[in-house]
Amino acid sequence: MSLRLKFNLVLIVVFLVGLAAAGAISYRLLQENARDEVYRSAQLMIESALSVRKYTVDQIRPELDKVPDAAFQPQTVPAYAATEVFEEVRKRYPQYSYKEATLNPTNPRDRATDWEADIVNRFRQGDGQKEIVAERDAPTGRQLYIARPIQITNPACLACHTSAEVAPPAMIKVYGPANGFGWKQNEVVGAQMVVVPMDVPERNAQRAFATFMTSLAVIFVTVFVVINVMLSYLIVRPIHRLSLVADKISVGDFSEPEFTEKGRDEVAILSSSFNRMRRSLEKAIQMIEE
Ligand code: HEC
Repeated sequence: MSLRLKFNLVLIVVFLVGLAAAGAISYRLLQENARDEVYRSAQLMIESALSVRKYTVDQIRPELDKVPDAAFQPQTVPAYAATEVFEEVRKRYPQYSYKEATLNPTNPRDRATDWEADIVNRFRQGDGQKEIVAERDAPTGRQLYIARPIQITNPACLACHTSAEVAPPAMIKVYGPANGFGWKQNEVVGAQMVVVPMDVPERNAQRAFATFMTSLAVIFVTVFVVINVMLSYLIVRPIHRLSLVADKISVGDFSEPEFTEKGRDEVAILSSSFNRMRRSLEKAIQMIEE
């Protein structure tokens, strides 16, 4: 096996192992970062929804309560305010969504779909679990969702959600007597659901991965070529010439000129040693012939 082949085999093995290790580690890191990014925006959305709800209760409702005999204003309902705000956001970001998914909702648009109802039921059966974070495949692509249970902890909620007889007549006028009643104290009636698409961050992660791996490959190919050229010029060729001349001298042929290797590297030193040996040999042969 030639020197060059040995070098190249070792280089290729080292490169392939390095590439596989770097690839595996960086792929995992990039995917984790992408998921983190999506999780952070979902977290931000659910916190904004909570803030909108709080704002409605703390600042809007007291103002409207001052108006005597006002018609029922859905705008004072926290669930309505949060849902409406995110409907506005969805006009620009249609793949993002916020929903107060409820099994028996007052407003039919809040009704939990099949997969949402599964999550609500997990909260209902669960042992006080506060949050579910998971990914799912939707027709529009992969999504991450955060779900938090909506539990009736405040008895004031039951004023409007127990039965049509108890609820404010102005509200029944708007919503009818059929839905959103029969809720119980401490019952989990639904879940806040935030859905965030994962395709953009995932695509970015894949692009970063491809760029990284391509740069690694380019660096390797460059190193490979440079090492081969250096090997050829500095080691393989001079040694090849040395051995040719040595072969000729071994049969008494001194016609080849002496080596003129410059520099102080090992091959240059070997060449000048070889020249000295050749001169001594030449002299010795001359002396024998005389
Ligand atoms: C003044 C009456 C009233 C009170 C008090 C009230 N709600 Fe509601 N709630 C409503 C109405 C009306 C809607 C429907 C709003 C809409 O159109 O989106 C609603 C909607 C909801 C929804 C969304 C699902 C659905 O039914 O459409 C949830 C969840 C909810 N309320 C939870 C609560 C909780 C928890 C409390 C107590 C902190 C509470 N509500 C107190 C009237 C009330």
